[in-house]
Amino acid sequence: MATVNSMLRDGALEGQVIVITGGGTGLGRSMAEAFLRLGARVCITSRKLEVLQATAAELEKATGGTVLPVACDVREWRDVDRMLEQVLAKFGRADALVNDAAGNFISPTERLSSKAFETIIGIVLMGTVNCTLAFGKHWIAKGEKEKKVLNITTTYAWTGSGYVVPSACAKAGVLALTRSLAVEWAKYGIRTNAIAPGPFPTKGAWQRLLPGELVEKFDMAKRVPLGRVGEHRELTDLASYLVSPFSSYINGEVVTIDGGEWLKGAGQFNMLEAVEPAMWDAIVHMVRGTKGS
Ligand code: HXC
Ligand code: NAP
Repeated sequence: MATVNSMLRDGALEGQVIVITGGGTGLGRSMAEAFLRLGARVCITSRKLEVLQATAAELEKATGGTVLPVACDVREWRDVDRMLEQVLAKFGRADALVNDAAGNFISPTERLSSKAFETIIGIVLMGTVNCTLAFGKHWIAKGEKEKKVLNITTTYAWTGSGYVVPSACAKAGVLALTRSLAVEWAKYGIRTNAIAPGPFPTKGAWQRLLPGELVEKFDMAKRVPLGRVGEHRELTDLASYLVSPFSSYINGEVVTIDGGEWLKGAGQFNMLEAVEPAMWDAIVHMVRGTKGS
């Protein structure tokens, strides 16, 4: 099966079994498709079995690959344990875990209940912990090597962000988990890395983070120095590389893929982007004129 616009060569993921939480929709689904096209077999999991089954049928038809859809609420340890059992029963092995499942919404923090925090932290942080722990324990007990955990975090994991505070807290925890296990579990042959995406349009994120007219009011592309949002293919290339043997010396890395978005927000004088080229002559004249004053 020829790959469509992939950075990696055909068959680059041949023989790999990759589990993607949140794999029925959005970026998880796109990663599943990319991995399949490179020869991997995949398990996609989330809470909604009908969504997973429909995605699995579509991806199998499009790629000729094998997809196992498994309902699993990542907040529930028993679900996660059963999901791993089903993966092993079907494929006999698992080589990579992609922790993509997430929950998020925008809200002033003072309007949130404790339960709202618990829900997001439960999905994002505890969900990632539960899956990582289940797969890690299995790999370590079996003495299996060359395993990969790839966590999907966000750039506000290190900057923080108002109005998505439960998500920011949880993603910061995922970042700490990534860097901690990269060191602790390297001796077992498990590499742990993360991707921090900028804006990549998906129904799940856009409906919850830019509902109604907010999508016109706050054009995400305008925040990005490259002047556009991300294409799924750009992220799936990176994810394919990070779960492939070609990235075998990359461990504990968080790769930002955001067109420069977070740095634009961070640099103190980046607002000078708004200065027209013609104004720069006058500005330079004013500043040089202060010499000696
Ligand atoms: C305030 C809210 C809320 C909202 C829910 N709650 N939505 N509070 N504002 N918009 C509160 C509820 O009142 C309740 O607390 C608690 O949160 C749990 O709500 P439930 O609806 O019972 O939760 P649940 O059914 O488990 O659904 C989880 C969910 C939902 C996160 C709320 O949106 C979901 O299923 N999301 C999954 C997909 C998703 O979010 N994708 C986007 C990922 S994007 P009380 O106290 O009332 O009981 C992403 C991108 C980041 O992470 C960066 C992008 C640029
Ligand atoms: P999405 O389509 O809404 O993906 C979230 C997935 O998580 C869904 O498939 C959802 O499926 C699953 N999920 C939610 N709660 C779950 C639970 N308790 N157990 C198991 N699965 C659960 O949104 P997306 O944009 O593709 O996001 C994917 C990842 O990218 C997330 O980690 C997100 O934080 C990250 N991200 C996205 C962007 C972006 O611009 N899109 C930017 C930065 C980071 P069910 O509802 O069926 O459970």
